[in-house]
Formats: sequence, C-alpha cells, structure tokens
Amino acid sequence: MARSSMAAVLAVLAVAALRCAPAAAELPLVEHPAKNDGSLSLLVIGDWGRNGTYNQSRVADQMGKVGERLDIDFVVSTGDNFYEDGLTGVHDQQFEESFTNIYTAQSLQKPWYLVLGNHDYRGNALAQLDPVMRKLDERFVCMRSFIVNAEIVEFFFIDTTPFQLKYWTHPKDSHYDWRGVAPRENYIANLLKDLDEAMKKSTAKWKIAIGHHTIRSVSDHGDTKELLQLLLPVLKVIHK
Ligand SMILES: *[C@@H]1O[C@H](CO)[C@@H](O)[C@H](O)[C@H]1NC(C)=O
Ligand SMILES: *[C@@H]1O[C@H](CO)[C@@H](O)[C@H](O)[C@H]1NC(C)=O
Repeated sequence: MARSSMAAVLAVLAVAALRCAPAAAELPLVEHPAKNDGSLSLLVIGDWGRNGTYNQSRVADQMGKVGERLDIDFVVSTGDNFYEDGLTGVHDQQFEESFTNIYTAQSLQKPWYLVLGNHDYRGNALAQLDPVMRKLDERFVCMRSFIVNAEIVEFFFIDTTPFQLKYWTHPKDSHYDWRGVAPRENYIANLLKDLDEAMKKSTAKWKIAIGHHTIRSVSDHGDTKELLQLLLPVLKVIHK
C-alpha cells in the first residue's frame, strides 16, 4: 500500500470503516466473510518482529508458501509484534523493517488481525493501535480487544497483558505503556463484561479466543493464574 495513491488509501479506509460497525457490546466488530464454499483458512503467528533475524525471514518465506497452498483468508498475530520494546511511535522504521518488508509473499497480502503482547506494551503501545498504521500498510489491523466474525467462526481477540499483575508491580527495568488501560481493575472489569455479552450473543458455531498469554501451558511461562481466575470463567459460558 505504501506506493498506492492517497485516493486508494482513503477508499480502503472508508470501506474498512463501513465494515467495522459497533457490536452490541462495546468490542469493535470486523466482518470477514468466509469463502464462497463456507470454508476459511488462516495462519497464526506470534513473537515475530526481529528485523528478519532469529530466522524471522525464513519463517516468513515458509508462511508465504503455505499461505499460497491453503489460499488463506487472513493472518492472526498473537502479539509481541515488535521486539524488544514494541514501536517507539507511528514513524518507527521497525514497522517496515519487521513487517512490511518481511512478509512480502503474495499470499500474505491479506488482512493481519493483531493483538498486543507484553513486549509491545514496553514501547509506545498506542502506535500500533493507531489507524494511521493502515495507511503505511493496509494489512495491519491491530486493536486491543475486538471480534472478527467469519460466519462459521467468531474470533475473540483479547488484550491479555494488563491481566498479569507482575507487569504492574514488578516491571523491573521495563516501562509499560498503560495509557488508556490504567487503572487495571476497571479495565479488566469492563473488558470481561463486554466479552461476556459478546460471547453470549454470538451465534457462530465455533468461537475462538486469541490472546498473547497462555491460560494453561506446560512450557517455560506456565499457566497464567490471572487468566485462569478472571478470563476462563467468561470463556466457559455456554451458548444456548
Ligand atoms: C534491519 O535490516 C535491514 C536490512 O537487512 C538493515 O539495513 C537495517 O540496518 C536493520 N535495522 C536494524 C535496526 O538493525
Ligand atoms: C536459524 O535456523 C537455523 C536452522 O534451523 C538454526 O541453526 C539457527 O540457530 C537459527 N538462528 C537463530 C538466530 O535462531
């Protein structure tokens, strides 16, 4: 999109705005219809923005090939989009160097739906959320918590970083950008309420929750106890 005319950019933004009607709850809703045969294909990636190093470029190449074979509809990113400390602002070169110039395969020129990870919060978290990023690369659709409705499946993107108490109480050498989040308790209460309403209202056959932190994990980080306590009960609501 970087080399397209401004008119094209504005047209795309206008379409994006139309397709982004508010849900009954307050979570933004993006409609992304499935293919004509009702199917949907996507790739999921997280922890990636490394200016091509740490084998990011090699993974990107393989994503391009697999993406073509599967004829993917979109890409999901589970956060930690830019290491080590997110973006410094909307004009950070890393956006191009770690995203636009890396995922160049034709098959990856689809919407990317992204949430933030803890490393993204260590920079200017508002930058990635700024719709101006879509002028730089129209694929980049990053919000805190939102819904993508793809007919047979609804994806609930959840901002999990604010849940983890340790980032608030023991930030160590890192600074977390809590603008628009603090105070934590209110933010979480509102988010869970919106999510609960949206989940109960959803008629999609499949509901998939997406977030940066694991609820349960046998790997290094282990379970996230705040998510077990606060988020899991909301996800367990059964739709009638
Ligand atoms: C990122 O990679 C590009 C291309 O390899 C290089 O020119 C640039 O200096 C790198 N940027 C950083 C911050 O390392
Ligand atoms: C990149 O991948 C190669 C081959 O799998 C591996 O040997 C190497 O350690 C990786 N490099 C990094 C920086 O992770």
